[in-house]
This record gives sequence, C-alpha cells and structure tokens, in this order.
Amino acid sequence: VNIRLARVEDLVGMQACNLHNLPENYTLRYYIFYLLSSPQLSYVAEDKGRIVGYILARMDEEVAQGEEPHGHVVSISVLRSYRRLGLAKRLMVQSQEAMAGVYRAAYVTLHVRKSNRAALSLYRDSLGYQIHEAEKGYYADGEDAYVMRCALEPTP
Ligand code: ACO
Repeated sequence: VNIRLARVEDLVGMQACNLHNLPENYTLRYYIFYLLSSPQLSYVAEDKGRIVGYILARMDEEVAQGEEPHGHVVSISVLRSYRRLGLAKRLMVQSQEAMAGVYRAAYVTLHVRKSNRAALSLYRDSLGYQIHEAEKGYYADGEDAYVMRCALEPTP
C-alpha cells in the first residue's frame, strides 16, 4: 500500500472511502476546497489503484492574535479490511510533517467522538495527542466531541 499526496482526481475515491467509514460526510466541493486551500496536507493510501484510506487536513485560517499557526485534521479513515496495518498512523505522520515543514504549524487539532475507541487510541496512545477540551453536542446526533491537540516539532 502506497501513501502519497492527494490529488483532485482522488476526491471521488476519498469520498467513497469516507461514505463507507464515517457518518460525517462532505460534499465534493468541501473536499475540493480543503485540497485547494492546503494542497500539501491531504494524503491517500492506495492499493492497486484503489483509494483504501485518506486524511483530509487543512491549516486553520482563523488564527486569533497571539495564537500560533496550527493545522486541523478534518477527517481520516481507512477501509475495514486495511485496518491495523499502520496506515492511519502513516497518514497522520505525513500530514503532520507537512503542517510543520510547509506551514510552520506549532500544533495540530482535531475533533473525535467520545465513543470512538479506535481513533482515540490512535491519537492518544500512538501519536501523543492530549484531550484539550470537550465540546458538548458537537455531532449531528448529539454526541460530544473531544478536541484533541498535539504539539509539532519545529523543522529547521
Ligand atoms: N482498537 C484499539 N486501538 C486501535 C484501533 C482499535 N480498533 N485501531 C487503531 N488503534 C491504535 C493502536 O494503538 C494502533 O497501533 P497498533 O496496531 O500497533 O496497536 C494505532 O492506533 C495505529 O493504528 P493504525 O493501524 O494506523 O490505524 P488504522 O489504519 O486501522 O486506522 C482508524 C484507524 C482511522 C481510526 C480506523 O479504525 C477507521 O477508519 N475508523 C473509522 C473512521 C474513523 O473513526 N475515523 C476517525 C474519526 S475522527 C477524525 O476524522 C478527525
């Protein structure tokens, strides 16, 4: 399985992967918007020409005064038969390195469902994210989110 930068022609495959895996879905125009606004931050995992996982990420544009630039993981998922192979971790690391290297991001944030054990374990245990705060009723079905954060190593 090959990890590479996402391109506009991957968007349909990324969307298909998202529809299989998550209740939070986006219209193609959102994918295009994110890809065009932060083109170095979204990646796909590809197996024999098929998109089997993706990470969609962007730089946070609303940086308040005194706040450092930071990235945001919008959505990540891996098809069921490709899980526990380290793909999500590789996708996260690739995107985080680009956030720090290309955009000088000091940290990265994301939202995750409180009940999402697999994702929480990926972020907290495997990648070193910490729970920054909880956001009540963040998801459309009323579930709370954790806002998680991870500091990024500055690159020379
Ligand atoms: N249970 C416990 N720990 C897990 C699990 C799990 N099911 N899956 C991953 N982890 C942890 C482990 O620490 C794992 O390391 P290990 O395999 O050496 O023990 C580590 O995360 C790395 O796992 P990966 O193999 O890289 O993760 P994978 O490629 O399987 O993808 C993902 C994880 C993306 C959460 C996948 O289960 C998935 O697609 N789930 C459905 C979609 C989803 O929930 N996405 C996240 C929503 S939040 C957001 O998008 C910001």
